[in-house]
Order: sequence, then C-alpha cells, then structure tokens
Amino acid sequence: MIFEIKNDEKKIFDLVSENARELGYPAYVVGGYVRDRLLGRQTKDLDIVCVGNGIRLAQAVATCLRPVPRVTVYQRFGTAMLRYRGIEIEFVGARKESYRHDSRKPAVEEGSLEDDQNRRDFTINALAVSLNAEDFGSIVDSFGGLKHLEEKIIKTPLEPGRTFSDDPLRMMRAVRFSTQLDFEIEPETLKAISLFRNRINIVSRERIITELNKIILSDQPSKGFKILYDTGLLKLIFPEMAGLQGVEVKNGIGHKDNFYHTLEVLENLSKNTDNLWLRWSAIMHDIAKPATKRFQPKIGWTFHGHEALGAAMVPRVFKKLCLPLDHKMKYVQKLVRLHLRPISLTKENITDSAIRRLLFDAGDDIDDLMLLCQADITSKNAQKVKRYLNNYELVKQRLIEVEEKDHIRNWQPPISGEIIMETFGISPSRQVGDIKNAIREAILDGVIDNDYQAAFDYMLKKGKEFGLEVEQGS
Ligand code: CTP
Repeated sequence: MIFEIKNDEKKIFDLVSENARELGYPAYVVGGYVRDRLLGRQTKDLDIVCVGNGIRLAQAVATCLRPVPRVTVYQRFGTAMLRYRGIEIEFVGARKESYRHDSRKPAVEEGSLEDDQNRRDFTINALAVSLNAEDFGSIVDSFGGLKHLEEKIIKTPLEPGRTFSDDPLRMMRAVRFSTQLDFEIEPETLKAISLFRNRINIVSRERIITELNKIILSDQPSKGFKILYDTGLLKLIFPEMAGLQGVEVKNGIGHKDNFYHTLEVLENLSKNTDNLWLRWSAIMHDIAKPATKRFQPKIGWTFHGHEALGAAMVPRVFKKLCLPLDHKMKYVQKLVRLHLRPISLTKENITDSAIRRLLFDAGDDIDDLMLLCQADITSKNAQKVKRYLNNYELVKQRLIEVEEKDHIRNWQPPISGEIIMETFGISPSRQVGDIKNAIREAILDGVIDNDYQAAFDYMLKKGKEFGLEVEQGS
C-alpha cells in the first residue's frame, strides 16, 4: 500500500530521502505520525528511523533547510531533533532495544528496520513509510498494523508479555490508545495486562500520570477507566478511585455504585468542557464517599461530610499521583468542597443571602462549579432528573440576578485592614480581622449594601461595640 504524501510533507520527506541516500542509510517515517495520518487525525511530531546514524542524518537534513535549524543531539541515546515549520522532527538509528522516547537507557545495539519494528509497542505504531528511492511512499507493515487500524484493534507486535515486560508503561498506553481512538484491546493483549499489572509498580508516577491525563482528556474517558478497573491497574495506580466501586445492601436498601456514578459524571461533564482540572474535580467529587458511608436504619445510606473530607483528600491524592500542588490543586479542592452547595440550595428557600454566599465562596469558578453540579445529576429515575434539572436552572437564574445586583463574584471587601487600623489608630491585631469579617458577613447577609459608605458606617458601629475610639484627624 502507498502512503498518500501531502504537499506540505513532500518537501521534508524528499529532503530526508535525498540525504539518507547520500549517506547510504535506508530511512523511514514511523510511529504515531504514520498512525495518525492514516486515521485522518491531526499529526504532531515526526519520527524518522534510519538504518544508520540518526544524528548524522539530522545534521545533513538541517544544512539543507533555510534558515538552518538548530539540531539538538542526544548523543547517549543516538537521537537528534530539529524543528521545522513548527513540527518537531526526531531522527534515530534503527535499534534492537525496546523503543522508548523517554527511556533513561542509552541506545544500545544497532539493528535493522525489522528489529526496530519488533520492539515497538503496538502494531498500529509499528507501521513505517519508506523514504527510499526504490519504494518511496510505500508502507512497510510487518505485523498487520493496517488491518488493525481498520478493525480498530490495539495489539502488541510480539507476544504481549514480552512487549509489556520491555516497558510496563505500555499497559497504560494500550488503555490510553483504546480510549483516545475508540479502539478495542485485542483479547490476548488485554489478558496480558491483567496478568502483568503488578509490573506497573516499577514505572515512574510521572509517566503514569501523563497517560492517565490523556485518558481523562479523551472524548470518552469512562471507557479507559473501566478498562483500568477491569484489568486491576486502577487499584494499583489510584486505589482511592477503585475503592468507589461496589454496592452494599442493608435491610434491602442499597446505595449507588459510586465508581460508575463518578464515571457518568465525568462523561457528562466531558461533553461540556476540555478543562483537565474540571474533569479532575468530577473524578474527585465523591472520593470520600467510602470513608463517610454510614447506614442509618431510619434514613438509609448517608455520606455526611464527604465533600469536606473529599476536599481534604485532594492534596494527598495529587501528591501521590505527582499532579501539581499549585493553584490547579486548590481549584479542584474548592470544587470538591462546594459540589453539593448549588443543589442543596434548591431544597430550601433560595434566599439572596445564600446565593451571595455561594458567589462569594466560588468566586470566578462559579460557572465551572455549576457545570460540575449539572453533570452530577444522574439518576435512573427520569422524574428525579427532571426535578433536579429544573431546580438547577432556577439556581442558575438566581445567580445571574443576584450577581447583576450585588457584584459579589469578584468581590473585594470595600474596607481594608489599613483603613480600619488608621480609623481607630490600632496596630495589626485580631480586632482588625474581626471587624473585617463582620463587614463581610453583613454584606453577604444583606444587612448593609455592598458599597464603601455603608461599609464604613458599619465599621464605625462595630468599632464602637468593640470599645474602640475614632483616632483624631482620621
Ligand atoms: N513507543 C514504544 N513504546 C513506548 C513509547 C513509544 O514502542 N513506551 C514507540 C511507538 O512506536 C510510538 C513511538 O515510539 O509510536 C513514538 O512514541 P510517542 O511519541 O510516545 O507516542 P506516539 O505514538 O507518537 O503517540 P502520542 O504522540 O499520542 O503520544
């Protein structure tokens, strides 16, 4: 089969081809680029394998480009990289060793194209396009990768146990490609993942989380999580999430399976956002349900405080998974903590003050919080779903009205600590904080208007209550 070369690829393919011929190296385009092009997906980096010295080939190609790009050489790994028109082009000599971009192991033994293809992870990633004059553009398909692309199958080129032992991260990659591409993992390959799952423990957390985040950012992330659960990988890499699975029944009363519920929420949310951290908040929103689960004979199953405990668990989970511990974590934590608030409002009278408090607590993340809440409405009972969605719309409307009126969303207290200290001639102290809090509460409760003068007058009143006197001349 011939690979249809597009106009924009032609120049670089020709250049590599000419230089490889001059050096006497057979050269091929390989890996993800070929796979994605054949699938009509957007391509990223271009990988070139040559039977020869990859660094020398990269340097030769670079001298023909204008402007001449810088060639980054990784001598130890026998690879070289250059950038051309925004794409990264990596050159490597064919090798017998397991093929990994991020391997810490140096490139060892040189090999033929076949050796190189043998050591790749999946048949669909082991396709090569020839850049050699005699068969330029023809596809070298040693393991049925083309058929597997058509049949939508993820399969290892060699016996799966061998491919996974070479690099156990490939088990995660199998799940990731299956999720991203909506392919099925071939039964023997899938069986081997279950069998070899414990080997994932030797892989660094950073590499694992990179794959997990790609699963989470896919169109149907729940597909990947189900495979991770069924193969036993999830329990090893993210036990807190695996622990959500299961239904306990007491006195004939069961509760939701929180794992599948979480996946439903993640799936619902993913239709409305590509924000990785918002998706993470869906994954984490009920994470403390197992720890807070109680059975109360008159009420049934309760999970009191799971939002607070869940928020407290976020830093621990993020640290263990090597996720960032910065504002992104704080954002997830906030959404987990607040995820019940909008819906719980609908059970009582929705007062302006409750809405103002929600706006104040959520701040700029209120829209994301509402998306999470909407996604969290999952029930088999259509009537219930309808009722919750109606309430949800009502809260949304009230949020708009109150925000228009009171501007709480990005609210900065009208009276600063400095003003309080100057007015009463006091130094930083607890009293300053108490007065500030009292002003904030009064505004949120609607006792005073949200403006400077009202807040100033209220400050004077509170100061007096605390026995403070106004400083002369202030
Ligand atoms: N590869 C492998 N084993 C790994 C990682 C990579 O065999 N653990 C091989 C595969 O042939 C893969 C190629 O190296 O196609 C390039 O790897 P990488 O850039 O990580 O993945 P891509 O397949 O290009 O896919 P993506 O860009 O979506 O990660």
